[in-house]
Amino acid sequence: MKKNFKAISTKALALTFGIGTLFSCVSDKDSPGLEWMPDMYRSPAVETYVDYGWVKEEVNPEAVMKQSAKHPPLATIPYQGKVEDLEMYLPYHRKASSFAAVTHGLQEKDGWRLTTEEGDAEYNAAAADKNPIQLTEDNQKSIFSDGKELYEINCAHCHGEDGDGKGSMVQSGAYAGVPDYSNLKDLPDGQLFYSIYYGKGMMGAHAPLLNKKEIWTVVHYINKLRFEDYGAATPQKVETDTTVVVEDTVQ
Ligand code: HEC
Repeated sequence: MKKNFKAISTKALALTFGIGTLFSCVSDKDSPGLEWMPDMYRSPAVETYVDYGWVKEEVNPEAVMKQSAKHPPLATIPYQGKVEDLEMYLPYHRKASSFAAVTHGLQEKDGWRLTTEEGDAEYNAAAADKNPIQLTEDNQKSIFSDGKELYEINCAHCHGEDGDGKGSMVQSGAYAGVPDYSNLKDLPDGQLFYSIYYGKGMMGAHAPLLNKKEIWTVVHYINKLRFEDYGAATPQKVETDTTVVVEDTVQ
């Protein structure tokens, strides 16, 4: 009896081992083999801000905006920061180009405002916009260091540390067509802002990543890369004329 039991358990062991070996043999060496409970290996890829009802131009009304976090309603602003920074949190007054939905995925249904005008009308108009953050002797050091930090996190991998257009992505051969800032000396600040905000050509929109204050800060930093002597002009000693009303140029 004891012998019998031993024989059976040996056979059972050999069988289990044999079946296990067979099942674990797969030709693809990157595959873990047979998965008994795949959910434990792969969790469903539910991500924020992804509209699963709209995949590759196909609409599935069942799933529209059900499974993912929604964008905040249009014109929602974060309640944070200082009161004097409030304007910076208000929506950007310029609209995206009419083709931004196709070129940069900026869909009106997600709250992006697209112009109905053809071509680069809004981009051209942006040339008139001035940087609302004015450089002064006192603030420029911290603005440049904040700008440098933002630039190194968000831009340098394409544009290069010095703005020569040879970031690591370009050097690796993964990416091309990034301009050297020194060839863009004539570009007005307002258009730098517009392109960073909505994207341009192969560059994506940075509006979801940086707020307006951060973009204007980066614009100051790019100017430092574009122009050697960029910075607050050394104040000159002038006779104070108390009859002159000094206009506030901050927008
Ligand atoms: C994925 C790569 C990539 C990243 C990241 C990137 N850019 Fe660009 N950038 C480009 C490319 C490519 C162009 C050229 C677009 C064109 O003219 O078609 C460009 C153009 C520009 C221009 C010129 C815009 C104009 O109107 O001609 C500015 C300014 C600029 N980028 C700033 C930035 C800043 C600031 C950041 C970071 C916040 C950034 N870029 C991040 C690839 C990138």
